Amino acid sequence: MTDAPPPVLVLIDRAAAGGPPRAPGETGWRAVDPSEHTIHVTDLGVTRGDGIFEGLGVSNGSIQALEPHLARLARSAALLDLPELDLDVIRAACLESARLHEPAPLLLQKLVVTRGIEGGDGTPTAWVRTELMPDHDAERLHGIRVVSLDRGYRHDVAQTSPWLLQGAKTLSYAVNKSVLREAARRGADDVLFVSSDGYALEGPSASLIARLDGVYVTPRTDQGILEGTTQAAAFEVLRSLGHEVAEVLLPMDEVRRADALWLVSSGRLVAPLSSLDGEPVTVDAEVTRQLADALVDRRV
Ligand SMILES: Cc1ncc(COP(=O)(O)O)c(C=O)c1O
Repeated sequence: MTDAPPPVLVLIDRAAAGGPPRAPGETGWRAVDPSEHTIHVTDLGVTRGDGIFEGLGVSNGSIQALEPHLARLARSAALLDLPELDLDVIRAACLESARLHEPAPLLLQKLVVTRGIEGGDGTPTAWVRTELMPDHDAERLHGIRVVSLDRGYRHDVAQTSPWLLQGAKTLSYAVNKSVLREAARRGADDVLFVSSDGYALEGPSASLIARLDGVYVTPRTDQGILEGTTQAAAFEVLRSLGHEVAEVLLPMDEVRRADALWLVSSGRLVAPLSSLDGEPVTVDAEVTRQLADALVDRRV
């Protein structure tokens, strides 16, 4: 067995826009030893989960959907009243982190920006770490068993209660991890969040795509859910194959009559559902393969 290549860690010292001009040659980021202890114990990302992140796929050295990920990071920063970010510095750090990794077909990057240390001057702590992408071939091939779980908010929570930060990709993922343990207790692999008034939303780390009457639909993102970069890319692929796509309000009884369902994300690309709440769902192996191939090969 060969050892996995080491991860690459790039610290981003100048993630916030503004501040004193950078000295000539100063990049605003630096590659460090990934085993180094770099986070302060009073960092608000650690003590409060107060920060934001992105998970980016890297396919044959090229970062997938880098610009949509950076745009979503900036939207999350605005929702959390974090300082405006210097996306040029952050982009360069991501590219360098990918470049420094030993070549591999698929890598995963985690880009994190926190509010900085407690009682500090508000300078964000930020880094991007690149590692091998875990293998998800079995899920793509055989599908995943999903249970629907109530998220406890109405579908209009983002409009009625924006302070709940639904729709921002925050570091507070304890709930997103807890629901996976609940899924496991119910004999399932993953979760579909449902609004308290019965609309399908998203998975804890993925967007939902359903095929209904031949149309590929995804829940509208004004319901306090993330704008999925993989969902957007998947819709481009489906459109190019001649399929109709739409963003909709999706009541759960519509989901239950869909003839195929997928959870899509940067980290796993595409996973067809093999069951929903214990009811079998047909895996469309052909469309899943078309989507997986196109998502791996995309260059944007
Ligand atoms: C809650 C949530 N929804 C959707 C997604 C899918 O987003 P993307 O396709 O950009 O990875 C993620 C990704 O981690 C997520 O955490």
